[in-house]
Amino acid sequence: MTQTYSPIIWKENKLYLLDQRLLPQTEHFVEVNTLKECATAITDMVVRGAPCIGFSAIYGMALWVKVQKDLTVASARAACDEMINARPTAVNLSFEVNRCFEIMKASIENKETNAGLFEKLVSFGHEQIHQSEVKNTKMAKIGFDELKKKFGDKKWNLMTHCNTGFLACGSIGTALGVISYSNKQNQVAHVFADETRPYLQGTRLTAFELSKENIPYSIVVEGAASYLMSHGKIDAIFVGADRIAANGDTANKVGTSTLAIVAKNYNVPFYVVAPISSFDITIPDGSHIEIEMRSPTEITELKGIKLAPPGAQTVNPSFDVTDHRFITGIICEKGLINPANVGELVRVVNS
Ligand code: MRU
Repeated sequence: MTQTYSPIIWKENKLYLLDQRLLPQTEHFVEVNTLKECATAITDMVVRGAPCIGFSAIYGMALWVKVQKDLTVASARAACDEMINARPTAVNLSFEVNRCFEIMKASIENKETNAGLFEKLVSFGHEQIHQSEVKNTKMAKIGFDELKKKFGDKKWNLMTHCNTGFLACGSIGTALGVISYSNKQNQVAHVFADETRPYLQGTRLTAFELSKENIPYSIVVEGAASYLMSHGKIDAIFVGADRIAANGDTANKVGTSTLAIVAKNYNVPFYVVAPISSFDITIPDGSHIEIEMRSPTEITELKGIKLAPPGAQTVNPSFDVTDHRFITGIICEKGLINPANVGELVRVVNS
């Protein structure tokens, strides 16, 4: 990767988050000092992307522990729940915060000092970011091998939705990791990044990352997907995930499901790339995933400029669920899962 910084910085016991709302025009870090500030930064999408939400929350829990006078298991649970409520769809948030809770509970029961617990949580945050880099690199290679098997040496035209690179993951990325790795092997002809309305993760963030890596790309409106596929311009599509159910149904940024259905129509392979921390095998299928609804102004306004008539009603789901039948493969750090094989996903997670 050519990125020179991480979107999450822990320095001198303070958390700094790159304000992704301002990208690509301004690269500004926000200082975060409390659990509340961290949860608000997650809700307001200063930091975003399932893995980075989870990592930021770990440091947020450390900041909370630091200022507690009477730390109890009950107060720790309440604080964890407050953090988990910051955004509902990405399971990475509860996955990481619940692991923090286990560390906190053990420490409280063992009567360790707050200072000791604080250090433990900070180290846990560092370790998760490091491990995610290792896992993402594994997934990138698996995705590359799959493309090589399918398409051989001809250069590939790839499409992606939303943002799944270092801004979302703190390292090479998931879906964008496959693209970045394949580009380093000189196998990428062109990348089509759709703009990803309404927050424009594609236009602002994925394009920012692709340009930092000198990967040839075009931004397209989401409605262009059918045009591109029907004209044979896309070899394969790679997206990330916010929560994957036991049967492979996948919640990801709204518009993912539409893209997968169109891809199925044109026989374009559609891959989900996500670490096991994005899997939720406690739910049998995608109907159990809570979909975050966001503010109408994300649709009716653009950077404060009003676009819609006064009083216009909106529906703004931030995610949708792609039925596993439209997914060619799910790539995680343990390998490539074919969601058509009933039970395979759960077996891989438990292996
Ligand atoms: O609302 P966001 O920007 O947090 O949504 C992000 C996505 O949907 C990503 O595709 C997903 O988190 C995977 S990130 C590796």
